[in-house]
Amino acid sequence: MGLDASQLDIVVAEICKNENYARMESGIVRKIALQEMSKRKNLKKVVKAARSKLHQIGTVYLGSPKPLAFDFSTIPADQKTDIEFQKTWAQPYLENHASTNERFSFLEHFYGTIFERLPEVKMITDLACGMNPLCRPWMPIAPQVEYRACDIFTDGINLINGFFDAFGYSGKANICDLTDKVPDCRDQLVFLLKTLPCLEQIQKGIGRHILSEINAHVLVVSFPSKSLGGKNKGMLEHYDAYLKSILNVETWQMQTIEFINETVYLLTRKD
Ligand SMILES: C[S@@+](CC[C@H](N)C(=O)[O-])C[C@H]1O[C@@H](n2cnc3c(N)ncnc32)[C@H](O)[C@@H]1O
Repeated sequence: MGLDASQLDIVVAEICKNENYARMESGIVRKIALQEMSKRKNLKKVVKAARSKLHQIGTVYLGSPKPLAFDFSTIPADQKTDIEFQKTWAQPYLENHASTNERFSFLEHFYGTIFERLPEVKMITDLACGMNPLCRPWMPIAPQVEYRACDIFTDGINLINGFFDAFGYSGKANICDLTDKVPDCRDQLVFLLKTLPCLEQIQKGIGRHILSEINAHVLVVSFPSKSLGGKNKGMLEHYDAYLKSILNVETWQMQTIEFINETVYLLTRKD
């Protein structure tokens, strides 16, 4: 028997006294709080365990814990369409998120290699996007291509929307908890980069469910092949077996691309 569910608002308020967790989508904070409340009776221990879990699924990837904000009106108009300026502007944000930092040194190669193998793209959805939408200046796609993105950090989502508006990219980022709902992605290209292992920590078995819910035409899934500390601990083989165990192979045609620290699977719907 754990803490009574009627204590949920108190637990959530305690968790969110730390601004790292106040920035996260409230539904996910409540979900994790309830999970930990079912295991423990002591309020302090519940709060500690919930924060630790929220850290593992979100804040662990962030270099600086400072909430993200930028006043885009300070950028002169003539610089907004300058790709080199956009890249310089985006670099610190990309480096501050572990996932984009790990591919920052080969972004041009990464997106060049992926997009040259894909049919023409009209619309993209980037699920659990982190800072990845800020890689648009490195992606060989027109600024008019509609780019949807979602994640659980409110400040990150606001920054991405500011970036799209200021630099002339079509698209919109939204808050979304993928363990609750997968957005409609019919006929689109979907990115689900380095995220399934993170979501499995919230809800075991959720990877299979999410893959079955994604109604995209092309799905780009990736996994780290080295740990955050840079070690190769058989991750490549482990995640390869994991993906093949949860993917409906009747539905998708698969191509694999190995990058230095990330394995990318290009999945194209067979019909
Ligand atoms: C390993 S990072 C990958 C980020 C990005 N896809 C990339 O490869 O650059 C995992 C991301 O999942 C997000 N995330 C964690 N739980 C989530 C959930 N339930 N729904 C949506 N996003 C989630 C985290 O905030 C984080 O940005």
